[in-house]
Amino acid sequence: MLESSNNMQDKIADIKNTYLKKIKQASSLKELDEHFLALFGKKGAVTKLPKEFSKLSKDQLQLVSPLFNGVKFELEKAISNKRLTIRETGYSLLERESLDLSSPVEIKKRQGALNPLTEFENHIVQVFSKLGFQQYDAPQIDTDINNFQVLNIPENHPARDLQDTFYIDSTNFGIEPGRILMRTHTSNSQIRIMTEYPAPVRFMNIGRCFRNESTDARHEHTFDQFELVYIDKGLSLANLLYLSEYFLKAVFGPEIKARLRPKYYPFVEPGAGVDGLCIFCSGKGCNICGGVGWLELGGAGMIHPNVLRAGGINPNEYSGIAWGCSPERMTMLKQGISDMRQLRNGDLRLFESLGSSVKV
Ligand code: PHE
Repeated sequence: MLESSNNMQDKIADIKNTYLKKIKQASSLKELDEHFLALFGKKGAVTKLPKEFSKLSKDQLQLVSPLFNGVKFELEKAISNKRLTIRETGYSLLERESLDLSSPVEIKKRQGALNPLTEFENHIVQVFSKLGFQQYDAPQIDTDINNFQVLNIPENHPARDLQDTFYIDSTNFGIEPGRILMRTHTSNSQIRIMTEYPAPVRFMNIGRCFRNESTDARHEHTFDQFELVYIDKGLSLANLLYLSEYFLKAVFGPEIKARLRPKYYPFVEPGAGVDGLCIFCSGKGCNICGGVGWLELGGAGMIHPNVLRAGGINPNEYSGIAWGCSPERMTMLKQGISDMRQLRNGDLRLFESLGSSVKV
């Protein structure tokens, strides 16, 4: 059945009027793009219409065709003109913008705050400064010697399995592979402190460490450690217990108790796990402390004579305390954070909900 040309002319006029109006009203490039698609896209009104021309007679087609082409051209032109106008308006708005340096400062409505991990670290640095500990910065990239060997962890020692790390490709520097690594703990500060400063010394080292770990709620390949190195005459486990209790009270309040439990670390003898009375159940046993009543909060020990000797210190004259903890673990316990990864993933929602007290 043949379509009447009047009918087709109406359709063309209809498309023209509707879209010229829409284009005129468009206020953004995005809106304009939508109209362009609705007309000239794969299923656009202008694209589809010629398919219906087969229903027209030759005479009718001669009438409709130029009309259609004219409208098509008109719509294209309207869109490109409008595009220019919208751009120009944007530019002139920008041109009219000015910076008045004399206008009063607007106070920011959203105030930043320190990451609770940073807040915690600043706090413990203060806590130990009061006991005369100074900060020592050891490098995050170090030698196998400083990170392992001088700490009584020779090559092929089983303790290395717990501290697998990332090695630096050092062949370009003429150093054989496997010698330079990302430090696995802040204990790489020990040998430096001993060789750089004459005993007695009190230092604390805080910073990033790395291990080849698959990450989960309690493990990260990049994490912080805090460590004390305290060398003096006549130090004993009593000093170590005092430091542990002093630290835990400063962090968790006066109610907490500390206990030392034998634990093996190759660079200390004796070595101790530092436990705190569980802050959630006060020692009764709960699911956070696994029913034990105590939480492991740090690692420590009397520095091994071999390590002192490697640092040029006579173990018959001086003894040393090494004491370390995980700032992440402390922050998680203190703030009730269950997934360690939240501390570094940059998602502000958690921190906003905690309402970190240190505003910056
Ligand atoms: N460096 C140890 C570790 O990473 C922790 C530690 C520090 C243990 C100081 C004892 C003394 O596991």
